Amino acid sequence: MDLTRTLPRRVVVTGASSGIGRAVAEGVLAAGGRALAIDLRADAGWTADGLVQRAGDVADEARISEIFAEAPGLLGGAPDAVVHCAGVYRWKPLADTTADEWDASMRINGRGSFVVSREAARAMDGGAIVLLSSVAYGRGDETEPGAAYAASKGAIVSLARQLAVELGGRGIRVNAVAPGMISTPMLTLDATPGAVEALTARLPARRLGTVDDVAAACLFLASGAAGYITGETLHVDGGYLAS
Ligand SMILES: NC(=O)c1ccc[n+]([C@@H]2O[C@H](COP(=O)([O-])OP(=O)(O)OC[C@H]3O[C@@H](n4cnc5c(N)ncnc54)[C@H](O)[C@@H]3O)[C@@H](O)[C@H]2O)c1
Repeated sequence: MDLTRTLPRRVVVTGASSGIGRAVAEGVLAAGGRALAIDLRADAGWTADGLVQRAGDVADEARISEIFAEAPGLLGGAPDAVVHCAGVYRWKPLADTTADEWDASMRINGRGSFVVSREAARAMDGGAIVLLSSVAYGRGDETEPGAAYAASKGAIVSLARQLAVELGGRGIRVNAVAPGMISTPMLTLDATPGAVEALTARLPARRLGTVDDVAAACLFLASGAAGYITGETLHVDGGYLAS
């Protein structure tokens, strides 16, 4: 089996200006596909043949709907995969967290995943949706307590399962990827001296993850090679949840 031949060709990637989203978009382009990048700013800070960029807040339903209406024209056909990486990581002990801060995490991570999934489903004619959760949904964290973040990422696991059932009849698979500690601008663990070393010393993989570790999982789930996988959450965490 030639896995590269099963990769999607017309892909919408959110959060593509940075970190995991950028690595996913680069992977699509490297395989000869086209990518429509959505992020807060129109200028992703990088450019490449086959990449088109649109500015949009993933929780802004009107704007995201507008971009998905444009998608077939920009990509040369209906998207065959949507990889939703845009998200925010904010943590604070429960006692100090305001209801507005709770709402802000839920708005971007929760509502954003709903809006992008709904617009993706409307625009797609079969294919795959990949949503980004986090290991935070599966294990509490004493070092960086983030109730709103953890709950918002749990919502994404449930959303992927529900949509897999709801959209299966239209040939659309929906899965989530739950990264562990990945070296991107989002990582805050490295600000605490010794924290990364303490974590990786106990982690089966003995290292932080890279954006390519996560992008590879996203691209696999978006590809025809994962044609019989739906409603699943793939942990890309170096064994964090297993240990
Ligand atoms: N880095 C990690 O350790 C890690 C771990 C677990 C899960 N994740 C998840 O992976 C995803 C990608 O994370 P990353 O590490 O690449 O982060 P990142 O901060 O490097 O990139 C996130 C991108 O999302 C964009 N974004 C944020 N809010 C947006 C909005 N409302 N609308 C549109 N774009 C928006 C940002 O501008 C940025 O370009 C996130 O959902 C994150 O929760 C990351």
